[in-house]
Amino acid sequence: MSNQKTGSHTLPPLPYADNALDPVISANTLGFHYGKHHKTYVDNLNKLITGTDLADLSLEEVIKSTAGQADKAGIFNNAAQVWNHTFYWNSLSPKGGGEPPTALKQKIEASFGSVEACKKELATAATTQFGSGWAWLVKDGDKLQVTKTGNADLPLTKGMKPLLTIDVWEHAYYLDYQNRRVDYVNAVLEKLINWGFAADNDR
Ligand code: FE2
Repeated sequence: MSNQKTGSHTLPPLPYADNALDPVISANTLGFHYGKHHKTYVDNLNKLITGTDLADLSLEEVIKSTAGQADKAGIFNNAAQVWNHTFYWNSLSPKGGGEPPTALKQKIEASFGSVEACKKELATAATTQFGSGWAWLVKDGDKLQVTKTGNADLPLTKGMKPLLTIDVWEHAYYLDYQNRRVDYVNAVLEKLINWGFAADNDR
């Protein structure tokens, strides 16, 4: 019998029903995105770390200890995509959109001028990310800012604290919007973005 340490990361449950974000994000898209894409990252990560020193580490520890290492890119990419997707599901809510909670709203106004200006920066980051990636609202020191990352990359490895994210990989929107990424991004920002989650992360 083998005493190999096996990877034991699990797919966290979605924080809402798979049709809860319809019509902005359909149950069909969520079914593939969560049930296939996100699950595959978890399965691949577990396979890749089984029998290695990384098998005992938390997800964040795996990400931080493999970032920037060419020979660990496969592990980093799958680990980061597991983390990114869990963070993305929580960045959306069926009751999202609207105004941020007061304390966060004041910080947004201090950093961007207005909530509208912040949303506009998020939309620009999301629509100008070339190819696959992510748009983020992050805390960098005391200041909030918008940033974007390519493929699996994420702000955690750059010393910034993520508050919320929007997935702009084609698998996030193609079934519902085809090539119209801008329509997906604007609908998410107006109807689904979970400012309460961002406020919880800003603590
Ligand atoms: Fe995705």
